[in-house]
Amino acid sequence: MAAEGPPPPVDLRDPAVFAQGIPHDLFAELRATPGLHWSPQHDGDRGFWSVTRLAEVVEVSRDPATYSSEVGHIQMYDIEEDCLAARASMIDLDPPVHTRLRRLVSSAFTPRHVQGYREAIRRRVRATLDRLEVDGGGDWVDLVAAPIPIGVICDLMGVPEADHGYLIELSDHLVAGTSSEPLPADAYGNTTDLRLLPFNSPAASAMSAYADAHAARLRERPGDDLSSQLLAAEIDGEALSPEEFANFFRLMIFAGNETTRSAMSHLAMHARAFPDAFGAVAADRELLGALAEEIVRYSSPILYFRRTVTRATELGGTTLAAGDKVVMWYASANFDDAAFDAPLEFRVDRPPTPIHSAFGGGGAHFCLGASLARLELVELLDEMFDRGLELDHGTPTHVDSNFVNGIEHLPVTVTRSSDHRSTP
Ligand code: HEM
Repeated sequence: MAAEGPPPPVDLRDPAVFAQGIPHDLFAELRATPGLHWSPQHDGDRGFWSVTRLAEVVEVSRDPATYSSEVGHIQMYDIEEDCLAARASMIDLDPPVHTRLRRLVSSAFTPRHVQGYREAIRRRVRATLDRLEVDGGGDWVDLVAAPIPIGVICDLMGVPEADHGYLIELSDHLVAGTSSEPLPADAYGNTTDLRLLPFNSPAASAMSAYADAHAARLRERPGDDLSSQLLAAEIDGEALSPEEFANFFRLMIFAGNETTRSAMSHLAMHARAFPDAFGAVAADRELLGALAEEIVRYSSPILYFRRTVTRATELGGTTLAAGDKVVMWYASANFDDAAFDAPLEFRVDRPPTPIHSAFGGGGAHFCLGASLARLELVELLDEMFDRGLELDHGTPTHVDSNFVNGIEHLPVTVTRSSDHRSTP
């Protein structure tokens, strides 16, 4: 496909573009320019079209027959055919195979079902805030934003508490695989060709090894967790292969952990930046859900996912050919002023539609864990308001990545407002 118009002013593959968070001015410029924006071929990929407006992100997300997750890789760089199958979990597959896999776990993530996790989540929230308060602060990411989501998803997957730290570490390295400083190929004793590993990261092989050992333990003594459910499940009379289980496990741990952590990290920064919105919700807890939603929109923890075009089509005024790559920038669509009134304002009174695309633009792959993530955020906020916590923070360190809008460290100090002086 021939390139049209001048290339974008910066290379959107470069993690430095996202070093300070979402590049709002750049995305606004791309959204205002008619058609899709072309990033020409580069080492490791054949070039891609950037989809920056919400309506088009929704259009792509809801048409997997035209915009496939399976035919090409859903991250920005290309991988060879033989690697696609080895690395695939449900997020990399199209219906109907995707549908069969998703059905194995979807009932555990319905809005009604996740309410059953509320008490356990609240206990985790209390324990983490207790630790933070004892010291009067610390690293919000290490003490609060990282342990809550990994704790919750590990509980669901039947992973013992003692292993949570190890899985956080591996999950961190998966993201590092998308940055400009990858781990050495033999980290964690890895001997697998990096091409065959998700995120090209040796940490993915360590996570698969963990999944194998976890499966072996649960085959001996199954529990009432999701991993045991997956090991017992059959698709067309066949159990998941060890590789399929490991890919499933890795997806759940990564997807349930890194993203929610990022939203919780941004939450602490939003609390200081937008005190009026937070104050309004502290006074009226009916607004907790709206606040959680605005935090997710505003932080857009996943910057993009990519699709491959399967047949000639037209999108946003640009003609696309089979094989073309389109990158859906959720982090841009969530600030599209054609969809959101004053998108850079942080508001808890936004109408329920249009919904932001931080959990995806809808359709088959819409975030499986959206209700769980929302509940985790609501419980954290509610407990913070109950305690009257006031946060102040120092300079955040951003994750070096073109894929996630993550925060690596956030030093905070914490106090209770004068009418909440009791000890935790
Ligand atoms: C604020 C937190 C979260 C954000 C921003 C987020 C974002 C996303 C996005 C953008 C997608 C891709 C959607 C698409 O392609 O249409 C996705 C898919 C997914 N998410 Fe989340 N996610 C979050 C939390 C979670 C949690 C807590 C889980 C727990 C299990 C989870 C599990 C998944 C899974 C399994 C998929 C793949 C679904 C599929 O392919 O059918 N996510 N998420």
